[in-house]
Amino acid sequence: MAQRPFIVGNWKMHGTRAMLSEARAIDRAAQRLMQVEIALAPPFTLIHPVRREAEQIGVGAQDCHPADGGAFTGDISAAMVADAGAGFVILGHSERRETHGEKDKLIAEKGKAALDAGLKLILCCGENQEKRDSGKATDHVLRQIKASLPADIEDPVERLTIAYEPIWAIGSGKAASVEDIVEMHTAIRAFLVKTFGEEDGAGIRIIYGGSVNAENAAEIIAGDEVGGALVGGASLSAESFMNIVLAVQ
Ligand code: G3P
Repeated sequence: MAQRPFIVGNWKMHGTRAMLSEARAIDRAAQRLMQVEIALAPPFTLIHPVRREAEQIGVGAQDCHPADGGAFTGDISAAMVADAGAGFVILGHSERRETHGEKDKLIAEKGKAALDAGLKLILCCGENQEKRDSGKATDHVLRQIKASLPADIEDPVERLTIAYEPIWAIGSGKAASVEDIVEMHTAIRAFLVKTFGEEDGAGIRIIYGGSVNAENAAEIIAGDEVGGALVGGASLSAESFMNIVLAVQ
């Protein structure tokens, strides 16, 4: 059965309670657009309020700590975000890899904690401009996924999504070309089939992120092996986010 496109809004460090009206509007519109799976990852502080308001859309977190609990001032565990109403967590985003120095091993530990807490996982990967220019993008991305995947994922089709986000395309206004996206997603697909076997490997969703907007979304999502989009800036208003959903439905 063909999967619905999966469109996820990553609000990053944007949003106070004033933004709840956007989440409400997204949820209301989503109720009429069931052919697309829609989710939002607001900051921690809005997970519970968004979950309480939303009936249709998925709600997730942008990070979690690998430990169950303990003396980790300022951190939030996977069980805590699940308790707040998150159904998934985004891990391995390049912004956390860069600004928090997160390495693959830590991301794999966080992924395990997330799965153990019953969350689904959106695992991000992507190369910087230098890696792309030197022709090493695919090797880099596959190595990243391999090293940051938690071991023994049960029901990976249901619980794992890979998000390919080339760093140079994030927030730049310049998305990767459909050709480059398809080439990378095809390589990721081959890796997933090798790792999870024919059936599961073929079913795990691979979504693209990096300057997706209402103008380019339909073309990107029509690409082979592109199962959806992880949207940053354009997810911050219900209007621009739902225009993306409308474009791909
Ligand atoms: O996780 C989403 C992302 O990093 C892409 O951001 O603003 O380029 O859509 P943006």
